[in-house]
Amino acid sequence: MRTSDDRVRGRALFQALRATAIILSLGAFSVLQAGSGAGTAGTASFERPGGAQDAPLERPRDLSGRSVKTPRVRAIHTDDASLKGGTAYLIRRDPWLAYQRGRELTQREFGARDGVFGQSGHHAGPLLEDGVTHMASRGHVASCTLCHNTPWRDLGGGLTFGKNGARGRNTPHLFGAGLTEMLGWQNRLDLLAQVDSDGNGWISRLEARGRHASLLTLPESVEGEGARVQLGRFDDDDGDGRPDLDPILAIWYVDSQGRRIPWARSLKDLGVAGYSFEYQVFGHGSHGRQTEHGPPTSSTLRAFTAGAFDLHSGLQAHDPTLLLDPDGDGISGTSLAGSRQFSTASVRDRGATKSAMGVSLDDPDRDGHMEEISQGDLDLAEWYQLNHPRPAERQGREETGRGRALFRKIGCAGCHVPDWFLKPSSPGGKGGIAYPGDRRFFDLSVQEDPIAGRLQGKLVLLADRRQGDWTPRRGSFVLRGYYSDLATHDLGDRFAEQQYDGSVIKRHRTPPLWGVGSTAPYGHDGASLDLDSVIRRHDGEAGESTRSYESLSRRQRSDLLAFLRSLVLYQTEELACDVDGDGKVSSSFTVAGKNTGLERLNPEWLFLHPGEIEGLVTGAHGSEVNSEALINLDAAYGTNLPWLRDSDGDGHPDRRDLPQEKER
Ligand code: HEC
Ligand code: HEC
Repeated sequence: MRTSDDRVRGRALFQALRATAIILSLGAFSVLQAGSGAGTAGTASFERPGGAQDAPLERPRDLSGRSVKTPRVRAIHTDDASLKGGTAYLIRRDPWLAYQRGRELTQREFGARDGVFGQSGHHAGPLLEDGVTHMASRGHVASCTLCHNTPWRDLGGGLTFGKNGARGRNTPHLFGAGLTEMLGWQNRLDLLAQVDSDGNGWISRLEARGRHASLLTLPESVEGEGARVQLGRFDDDDGDGRPDLDPILAIWYVDSQGRRIPWARSLKDLGVAGYSFEYQVFGHGSHGRQTEHGPPTSSTLRAFTAGAFDLHSGLQAHDPTLLLDPDGDGISGTSLAGSRQFSTASVRDRGATKSAMGVSLDDPDRDGHMEEISQGDLDLAEWYQLNHPRPAERQGREETGRGRALFRKIGCAGCHVPDWFLKPSSPGGKGGIAYPGDRRFFDLSVQEDPIAGRLQGKLVLLADRRQGDWTPRRGSFVLRGYYSDLATHDLGDRFAEQQYDGSVIKRHRTPPLWGVGSTAPYGHDGASLDLDSVIRRHDGEAGESTRSYESLSRRQRSDLLAFLRSLVLYQTEELACDVDGDGKVSSSFTVAGKNTGLERLNPEWLFLHPGEIEGLVTGAHGSEVNSEALINLDAAYGTNLPWLRDSDGDGHPDRRDLPQEKER
């Protein structure tokens, strides 16, 4: 029997041979990984690209097909879809591949060779209100999925860790996160339209005078359960120098030309003529004030991802889309997925020095690894999260129907507002607002199938293909079953959050309750272990509805809890799903000539070059298994496309290789 040491040696030998072959084939004597600290040859990596025919020592394999299969290579951002393997090509020509590669970025366990960590354990993140205490510590895990863990491989909800204060913050799930992001931008536009009468993108003192802020979640013409959400006042009625708005709006101050004054903290500061704001739909809540490092949380998926990679895994992103704001108005780039960004995003790798090929050489954590996350990586990670399917609702049972009615009756729906409307794109101009519309390329509608007794999905494309390019339709979308007003509330002492510096956050974001049946523990701090206790913990603004809950009969409470438990997540790759739109779920779904079994949403099967599975093979112990390892891995994943190829395996693609290797 081989020991694991043999295996390591075997693999090291294989890698060394391969490395030699590469060096010889390049005809160069340059040292692999020059300048990047840890060498790659012999370093174990986390990928399992192989199938049943591969010698597992040489090519680690996974017959279940669920592993990350491709080597880590930084994606190259481009706007030009004709550059094969660049991010515009991936997103427009092969959107499922872009989605899957973005998904891989959130599942991959990054290793030393990728520059993971570097300053593990250091205090990090934005500063709290005393101006010196950091919000968290840095570098705890090597992958997003280690926190966003339930369900596994789908950016679910998860663990609680020390953030803001030692009581910690609990990890929310990211199902439907794209819809949340899009509502945030739409709400910002709708609020601006209420007061910004000259349409210059910011609010002057005069425009704000006497004005209240509120939003309608659903237009009256659309049937459903919407509400009017109150968000405070645009002016500074209490005279503390800040607009009296809900802290879900993170304010920045501007001069008379609309340029952001980064150091300004009050309407009374010198040179301040007014303000603008971000609608912070993400995170459990903050004091809403800007710090040296921008706002305490990010309002877009892209900025959140860049921040999370750095804070949790010590991987700094260099991203001109977030950084560049030539006119200084606080709004920076527009991503390939169509999301406007804010220049307040806190990214440390600013690209002060760049190689001839455009790689940032800043290396903020000084671990010898350059541009640990690229602008292209963020294009893909954002694309995946934008399109990540929304949660499901198990309907049709009597008790859940009764529970839902009670939920409304006792006032829960006043804050946990069920329905929202995403407006279709409109050109803007002449006083009209330029809404972006639904930017996703597909929606997954998941319902309970009463006959099969299981959840069942239906893939609905939201994009059209013309001359090889997919273009999202950017229509409207009625979002049913969201259960949040996207505002903050004070739920009394039991929810007050004392931060490390002694400051107290009293208002927290109403968490959307979609998926809540699958995401215990509850509360921003994960301190309530079940649904009944988190509901009884509500007080303050929710006091009346909590008392109504407490005075329900036992049976009624059980109906209400059954309703909440019917709001569930699911594993996207395991869900029975009508993928080809023929109105049924096949029990032997054929892809690239192979029987893949139950019809399911495996992105690989929807690639431009669909993944071809191995099929029936004999596994270890002689068992017969349907291997889902791919036999056309390179073609399916485009690993040899010119803008993705990484011949020397250093994680930097050939087209933007590290300077040491090309310039020598
Ligand atoms: C150490 C655990 C941990 C890791 C690792 C982690 N997250 Fe999170 N994530 C959290 C917590 C906790 C929150 C809530 C933060 C808050 O409220 O302050 C969160 C919130 C988010 C949100 C906002 C969601 C919402 O509805 O509020 C996004 C988006 C996100 N994370 C993306 C990522 C991505 C992408 C990665 C990997 C690059 C990642 N996270 C890694 C714990 C983690
Ligand atoms: C005044 C607004 C308001 C009302 C009314 C209200 N909630 Fe909440 N709810 C919140 C806020 C805010 C939170 C987050 C608190 C925190 O974590 O700090 C929350 C959290 C929750 C959670 C935990 C979600 C999670 O993912 O952790 C559940 C479950 C919940 N509410 C159910 C209910 C039910 C059931 C009712 C009616 C009995 C209700 N709420 C009434 C505002 C409200």
